[in-house]
Order: sequence, then structure tokens, then C-alpha cells
Amino acid sequence: MMLDLKKTRSNLDEDWAKRSLAAVWHPCTQMKQHEFSPLVAISHGKGSWLYDTEGRAFLDCISSWWTNLFGHSNSKINQAIHAQLEKIEHVMLAGFTHQPVIELSERLIELTNQNLGHAFYASDGASAIEIAMKMSHHYWKISGQEKKNGFVCLKNSYHGETMGALAVTDIPLFKEAYGSLLQETWVVMSPDARQAKDGQSPEDVAQQAAQELELLLQKEHRHIAAVLIEPLVQCAGRMGMHSATYLKLVKKLCTQYEVHLIADEIAVGCGRTGRFFACEHAGIWPDFLTLSKGISGGYLPLSLCLSTNAIYSAFYSENVGQAFLHSHSYTGNPLACSAALAALTIFSDEQILEKNLASANNIASLFSWTKEDQRIEFSRQQGMIYAFDIKKSALHHIPEFARNLFQEGLKQQVLIRPIGNTVYVMPPYSMSYEEHKIMSLGIQRSLDLVSSMN
Ligand SMILES: Cc1ncc(COP(=O)(O)O)c(C=O)c1O
Repeated sequence: MMLDLKKTRSNLDEDWAKRSLAAVWHPCTQMKQHEFSPLVAISHGKGSWLYDTEGRAFLDCISSWWTNLFGHSNSKINQAIHAQLEKIEHVMLAGFTHQPVIELSERLIELTNQNLGHAFYASDGASAIEIAMKMSHHYWKISGQEKKNGFVCLKNSYHGETMGALAVTDIPLFKEAYGSLLQETWVVMSPDARQAKDGQSPEDVAQQAAQELELLLQKEHRHIAAVLIEPLVQCAGRMGMHSATYLKLVKKLCTQYEVHLIADEIAVGCGRTGRFFACEHAGIWPDFLTLSKGISGGYLPLSLCLSTNAIYSAFYSENVGQAFLHSHSYTGNPLACSAALAALTIFSDEQILEKNLASANNIASLFSWTKEDQRIEFSRQQGMIYAFDIKKSALHHIPEFARNLFQEGLKQQVLIRPIGNTVYVMPPYSMSYEEHKIMSLGIQRSLDLVSSMN
């Protein structure tokens, strides 16, 4: 029998979701749940909107997993990638170099006021964390302090899913199945301001968390290579926010006890908290700072680890074995770097950090209903992240809250992805004030509809 190829192709095109479920193993998903919650097949995006193959539109309130900064299919970033495509799509970075990676490194170093003088590249956030951890460990080894090989992370921390990064992650759902494969780490109190007891301020919580860290460092600093933090917002930790005081205190302790500070700015960097780097709110610089997600404008996999000149110099030697012999095939990919350069140019040409201040104020006033709503507690904001929690008392009669709110949101044209009882938005910086309004109204309506479920 002759196959009518044209017909077959168009039939197939109609059911992307079905084909995906048959062939693609989707991330962070219990695939069986798609038996009753349908996959959404996206055909294209423009600005803050995503469009599916059935013609439905969704406002991307979470920047496609916190990556997108200036909207989907941004003409300036598109142009930069096209231009780079005409020159060189990829070349290895060992023994070779190219203009986009040089310029990107120079511009990032400039943004740190030369405090972090070298950029080492990878593709995903977790790989940048692995790099920071390996560099820290290796630095101490080179420096004759081989026993400094342990790591400290915070309660509710999230640094990625590869083995090193997962070892310093404290979210049981992601970690439990792999516990026996992972290096043991010290987990200390998080400065999450939601823990404040009556009369306590976020600064008090920060002080208390820093005291706990100090007790550990006093005892164990000879065995500790580095402390890892997510400055100001533990995003995967249900958007736990803390005072910048904590960053100052941790920096001081790390210096005092000769322990590296790794600032994971994969989610909070690139302007998300109101400054380009979240650490700037505290006026501190870590020994290592990791970036990914927004750095390429949300276009291409790109991550990097910035480090101080002191770290870099320790590896600079006649001895090959003393080098940082770590690599990924796509390290410093020219297309990804050209997208990142275009994003940095948008930052400076369009005064994005200043505009974000006004956007953040607009979001705060549109979400002011969350402060009066009896179902809600802990309404909070840090720059372009707004979050609130649904009280346990309001939750218990809402079945499968996060999943249902996500589904209802889609019906109301807002793409949100609640984490447990925490609802948050982290929109592209280019989202208009009118779209902010659609976002707030859509979430309020979804919450009302889900609350009336039983
Ligand atoms: C703070 C933080 N670190 C690391 C990662 C891991 O990044 P990736 O998913 O690109 O590996 C994430 C991802 O959400 C993150 O939020």
C-alpha cells in the first residue's frame, strides 16, 4: 500500500502532545500524570506570550523557567544570533577563542568592577555549580589544605540536579532517591524571613542564621572548602526571601574562617532582584559567582562561573596537573555568547535596571489584593519577583493545589507554576503594564475558581 505522505504528515502535526508523550521523557515530571493533565504543545512565542498549536495564548508569567528577560523572539537578540551564524556557529574553546566569548567575559568582569576577573563557561546552571565546587576544592588542594573538601549549603537550597549540585541541594523531593550517591554536606539554617517569630525582623532571622553558620565554621572550617548561597531569594525553596544583612554576615564569616563563598546567581542574577548582581544589594563580592538562565536572554543554554584573580592565579603554573582540567564540548558557544552580548546591550541601551524599578512598583500595586486576601500570607517582593503563600487553613479543602492552579491559570491565559502552596510571578522585564494587569487579574480569578473546587 502506498502511503499518502502529505496526509500522514499533516495528521501527525495535529497531535504534537500525543507524539511527545510517546517519544520524549519530559523533565521534572511524573509522566503518568499526563494521563489526566494534558501537555501543552507550543508552536511559537512573541513578547510575553506563548501560543500553542491549538491557537491558545498564554502570558508567560514565569519567564519560561526564569530564563527569559526581554520577551520571546526578541528582534535584537534574533538579529545578533543570525549575524553570528554567518561567522562561526561553534568552535572549541581549548586552544581557540572568538570575539563573542572575549567580549562577554570583559563586559561581565566590568560589571563586577574587576572584583571577579575570570569567566569559565558551561551550558547549564548545574554545570556552573559543579565548576565552582571543583575549583574551590582544587584551590585548597593546591594551597596545601587538602582536608578542606566539604561544602555547606542552606536549608531549602537548590543548586541543580547533577550529582555535585544535588549534594548541596536541600529539597527532599529532588534528592531523596539519590541520597546514597551524593557527598555528605552540612546544611545550616536558612535566613528565610518567613521564619520570623512575633516581633522579629528579617534582619533578626538573618542574624540567627549567621550565628548558626558561625558555630559550624568555628568547629569545622578546616574541613570546609566553601559555603553556597542563593543571594536574597531561594527561588526553588518556595521563593524564600531574606535580608541583604545575611550576605554581609556570611561574607564576613567566610573571610574570617578562610572558607570560600559561592554565590549562586543562576536565578537571581541578571537584574532579577533589582541590581544586576544580587550581591550588590549587600556591597559584597563572593569568591565564585555563577550565572545562567537570563544571561543569554533566555535563548540558548549558557552558564558561567566568575572567580577572583586570587583563585585564578593559584592554578597558573608550569604544572599541567595543577590546571583546572574541566571541559564541556559546547563551552563558550559563540551563538549563546552573542545572544548574551545582545542581552547586555539591551540592558545598557534601554536602561533596564531603572525601568525594572518602575515595573516592580507597578506589579506591587497590582498585587496589593494579596495583602488583604484572608487566604494569603507572606506577600513579598524582591525586584522582579513577587510571591505569596496560601495559608494551610485555606489549602486543605483545595485538592492538588499547585497542579489545579496551574491548570486553571492556563484557562485564564496565565502561565504560572506554583511551588507547593507558594504562588509567584517572575515575568520577562519587557512585559507591559497592561500585561502586568492581565497577570494579576488572571491569577486572582484562577485562585477564586480553584478555591471554590471541592
Ligand atoms: C539557584 C539555582 N541554581 C542552579 C540551578 C540549576 O540550573 P539548571 O537547571 O540550568 O541546571 C537552578 C535552576 O532552577 C537554580 O534556580
